[in-house]
Amino acid sequence: MKKIISGKVREVYDLEDGRMVIVTTDRISAFDVILPTMITDKGKVLNALSNFWFDLTKDIAKNHMISSNLKDMPKEFQSPEFEGRTILVKKLKMIPYEVIVRGYMFGSMYEAYKKGEPFLGHSFTKKYEQAEKLDEPIVTPSTKAAEGHDINVTLDYMKNDLGNELGSKIEKTALAIYKKCYEHAAKNGIIIADTKFEFGLDENGELVLADEVLTPDSSRFWNAETYKVGTSPASYDKQFIRDWLKANNLAGDPNIKEVPADVVAETSKLYHECVRKITGKDL
Ligand SMILES: Nc1ncnc2c1ncn2[C@@H]1O[C@H](COP(=O)(O)OP(=O)(O)OP(=O)(O)O)[C@@H](O)[C@H]1O
Ligand SMILES: [Mg+2]
Repeated sequence: MKKIISGKVREVYDLEDGRMVIVTTDRISAFDVILPTMITDKGKVLNALSNFWFDLTKDIAKNHMISSNLKDMPKEFQSPEFEGRTILVKKLKMIPYEVIVRGYMFGSMYEAYKKGEPFLGHSFTKKYEQAEKLDEPIVTPSTKAAEGHDINVTLDYMKNDLGNELGSKIEKTALAIYKKCYEHAAKNGIIIADTKFEFGLDENGELVLADEVLTPDSSRFWNAETYKVGTSPASYDKQFIRDWLKANNLAGDPNIKEVPADVVAETSKLYHECVRKITGKDL
């Protein structure tokens, strides 16, 4: 067994039999820095959310999930530290795009819109304020650059590259998943403003939803209770820790030593709140 990826948050192991194990740790990044202190249960929350969405969307698309039961995994993973944060998945031929779905006028799209520029092939005739819900969500892919930052591209670019049939299928599938999950979260007090999906192809060339799905690490979650059009809504989960970093002049500081226990506890509480609101039960 080989560890193939140690990402900012997750560890990926290749079982070299067509399957992989993904472990979601309690690491957190803020202002592009991985903080030295773990956020209690964060990985378990992300894992539980992804698993919940995989189940909710299984009629829309196949997904890579094989099992979340440690007993189905190699014995190295059968210990308490992996419980609730580890999944066994089908290893896919990944499609080299991050499929971003945006439901709200925000971030880089809002910046372009304010200047009157089209955003990755999308022009808006309607007037929007910052953080306003779009009439219809849109898809803007980005290519996974081997090094450095991802490059945003138009939907047409992706369709030309992958072929219209596969490109259109990805677009339709991503929108259908986003809409179904958006509705579910909105009913439960969380606005999923935007998100990114990753897809792969299985041995039959079928499209399969992979990676993590609709977690606060791969999406913008806003609190529906405090959300206001025309403002910049705070991130549901990272707001507290970002405020603390800013207040202490540590935003983006790669040498930060430690995050105090009360800030960790408050942040952990927000992750628990996310999973409770969305799945209806705490971990
Ligand atoms: N079913 C799958 N088959 C093959 N590869 C997969 C599958 N699911 C996810 N992946 C890939 O596994 C990797 C997971 O790595 P991870 O996201 O943790 O780190 P990263 O993308 O390198 O960095 P970051 O922390 O910025 O996301 C990604 O490259 C993703 O595309
Ligand atoms: Mg990733």
